[in-house]
Amino acid sequence: MSARAFIDEFKTIMHLTLPKRYGDRQSDRLDAFYAEQSSSYDLFRDRLLHGREQLMRAIPVPTGGSLVDMGGGTGRNLEWLGERLVSVASVTVVDLCASLLHIADQRIRSNGWQNVRTRLADVTTYAPPEGLVDAVTFSYSLTMIPNWFDAVENAYAILKPGGYIGVVDFYVSDKWPNEGMVRHSGFYRNFWPAWFGYSNVFLNPDHLTYLRRLFEMIRLDEKKGKVPYLPGLKAPFYLFVGRKPFSV
Ligand SMILES: C[S@@+](CC[C@H](N)C(=O)[O-])C[C@H]1O[C@@H](n2cnc3c(N)ncnc32)[C@H](O)[C@@H]1O
Repeated sequence: MSARAFIDEFKTIMHLTLPKRYGDRQSDRLDAFYAEQSSSYDLFRDRLLHGREQLMRAIPVPTGGSLVDMGGGTGRNLEWLGERLVSVASVTVVDLCASLLHIADQRIRSNGWQNVRTRLADVTTYAPPEGLVDAVTFSYSLTMIPNWFDAVENAYAILKPGGYIGVVDFYVSDKWPNEGMVRHSGFYRNFWPAWFGYSNVFLNPDHLTYLRRLFEMIRLDEKKGKVPYLPGLKAPFYLFVGRKPFSV
């Protein structure tokens, strides 16, 4: 690891472990948390936020269609769209944290992506100016949104009938999950919410239940991934792809 990467890594760990500064507004809390680690965000999160590449490869976006990445941060996910990115009419990275969107803007400029834009907005209320969109993604953002159900309902509202939603995020199972779903141990169901909760990341079995209730399920993977500096422990995450029904 280079000296620069080592310093960035150290700064990130300090921000994750030191007591958090709070604010009344979600945007203040996000800026307080991310402002000083925005330049090193991708380096650390590439080892923590598993399944993002699989999500972006799995989400169907028609040629000439539109995609909104809700809580898209630095725009890292767009790299995994690969050659499909040029066939899409518009991609919008929506986020409430200006410092992370600044990195996304740099990425868009350096890649010369003409069809990608960023919007500083709250995903619980964001309304695309062009009207309904073809696909919406949330990667590790639902767990950071206190009123997450508003975010899911807004995604539903801005999707065309038959449009797709893709979500990848940390979670823990219910104590008694529905048949066919993974059941996590009592240790997992208590440890991970407490560990992530310290960084204002709130794991909740209801996210998946609510997604399954609103959308037709196309794909569900329930997995566990390594966490940097926690040897022997793996954090549970899911990958969900669903479709907004044509008629309710
Ligand atoms: C863990 S980061 C994930 C970022 C990115 N999706 C990724 O996979 O790297 C969570 C993101 O959600 C954003 N966020 C949290 N609450 C939000 C809200 N109400 N509206 C928009 N973005 C929000 C944060 O600013 C942050 O960029």
